[in-house]
Amino acid sequence: MAKADKNLKEFYNSKGWHKKNNDAHYQDSVLWEDNREAAKEYVSKCRLRLANKINKNEKYCDYSLSLDVGCGPIQYEEYKQYYNGFTENHFLDISQKALDEARNNARPNSKFICQSAVKFNEKNKYDLILCNHALYHMDKFDQKQVVRNMISGLKSKSKLYITYTNRYSIWNFIFFLPQKIFNFFKSENRRIYFYTHPISWWKQFSKEYNLKIYPLRTISSRESKLLIPDNSIGKKIFTYLYYFEDKYPELSLYLGTYYIVEIKKE
Ligand SMILES: C[S@@+](CC[C@H](N)C(=O)[O-])C[C@H]1O[C@@H](n2cnc3c(N)ncnc32)[C@H](O)[C@@H]1O
Repeated sequence: MAKADKNLKEFYNSKGWHKKNNDAHYQDSVLWEDNREAAKEYVSKCRLRLANKINKNEKYCDYSLSLDVGCGPIQYEEYKQYYNGFTENHFLDISQKALDEARNNARPNSKFICQSAVKFNEKNKYDLILCNHALYHMDKFDQKQVVRNMISGLKSKSKLYITYTNRYSIWNFIFFLPQKIFNFFKSENRRIYFYTHPISWWKQFSKEYNLKIYPLRTISSRESKLLIPDNSIGKKIFTYLYYFEDKYPELSLYLGTYYIVEIKKE
């Protein structure tokens, strides 16, 4: 098993998908999401951007079987909208704990697969495959293969959606030095494998497939918790940010943190 896979499996089985002292959120979310009151509506609407892409009605799309790769425990209510349009949902994760938790949140007609995405080798089976904030936690040398595995798993005319992090976001420039210092001192609890290729990396797939990239969210919890206050002014800033992302998608994609990659198999 690759080092990254081992690291992620251990982290999510032992810590990431556990809750501390009756916390409302999993440790993963406590560490890496902005769950403050002011941010609630913004993060929720950003998650629904992906639901809107999945559910927008296109004649060619059959809504029979979906697969979420690196599904986690289906930790946010909005995520259910990624699956509800499909007759049956499959969930794949390297962490058994993720799947045990997901079982409590999924619909009855669901199947759970404990496997590394690197080994995933179904062919022409799914009407939709989703990989939400998981690919950049896989080994940098495996990521291309995982994208290829997922495309192979799609039926023709179906789509793959991947949410990914922008390596060269404006925030990564601003926080370059502070982040290096933070990484040096950060606790064992937060050390999980992470590698992001630049946006240009995706071009390799556009030669064979119809590929589109959309902004998902310009700001991650690191920046928002530090820069935006948890009060009515903060809420206004988040509202404006969401409006900005819709109005200036190109700018938001290249400056911001998270984006959605859509790959259509012909
Ligand atoms: C950051 S979490 C995201 C979970 C979920 N998609 C979400 O957005 O809440 C990453 C998930 O990917 C899973 N994962 C990491 N590497 C994997 C691999 N090689 N194969 C399958 N799942 C993997 C982890 O176990 C974890 O549940």
